[in-house]
Amino acid sequence: MALNPLFFRKTIIAATGLFLCIFLIVHLSANCILLLPEDVARGLYNSYSTALRENPLIKIVAYILYISIVLHVVYALLITIRNRKAKPEKYTMNQANENSSWTSQNMGLIGIMILLFIVVHLANFWARIKLGIGEAPGFDADGNVDVYEVTYSLFQNIYYVIFYTVLMIPLGLHLHHGLKSGFKSLGFYHQKGLKTLAKVALIYAAIMAIGFGIIPFIVYFK
Ligand code: HEM
Repeated sequence: MALNPLFFRKTIIAATGLFLCIFLIVHLSANCILLLPEDVARGLYNSYSTALRENPLIKIVAYILYISIVLHVVYALLITIRNRKAKPEKYTMNQANENSSWTSQNMGLIGIMILLFIVVHLANFWARIKLGIGEAPGFDADGNVDVYEVTYSLFQNIYYVIFYTVLMIPLGLHLHHGLKSGFKSLGFYHQKGLKTLAKVALIYAAIMAIGFGIIPFIVYFK
């Protein structure tokens, strides 16, 4: 039996999306270190970041992360283009009431805003720290790359603070809708379970959007 290409794309989007959701929990927890007093936070943040870059197992997870981001974006774009061409039957696997929500109709636009965020974000940190592009970061007293300083100096710029905070609104909307429809795409149709899942998705999306959105502000005023 031939594999339905739409089903295949949705499964890839859902599976990679769920993996990215787990990454965000770990990433937000790590970034909460930035809120601790400086004498504790600098060493902890920098040694955590060094461990991430140097641990071979985590390096493999990082490659899975990059591949997941690329697959998620590429297949989401393919589905968005397909939906635009076949207009009336948008996002066919969702329930009718979800189809009418603003978020579900604009997942493509919201996704592009998040993509813009990720490109800028990777240029701010990843390109500088991992690829050595741009101004070289300094080192802390333990000889670790001073990622804490890179973060604090970036968030001295109010425009970056606003950019990081405002773009957490589309991220929150995307996570809320994506988490709900992701489970359905993976074949989870249990009615009661889906209701609970909708609540979990809302709480998760709110924590991620508020958490990531508030950190740059706290750093700016610290
Ligand atoms: C307060 C907001 C955030 C801060 C301070 C922050 C900080 C950082 C830092 C310092 C790195 C580089 C880590 C290293 O190589 O040592 C990084 C990497 C990364 N961040 Fe963020 N981040 C934030 C929000 C986000 C959000 C919302 C996303 C996704 C939507 C995201 C996605 C990523 C990705 C994909 C990487 C590359 C990870 C890797 O190479 O292992 N970040 N972030």
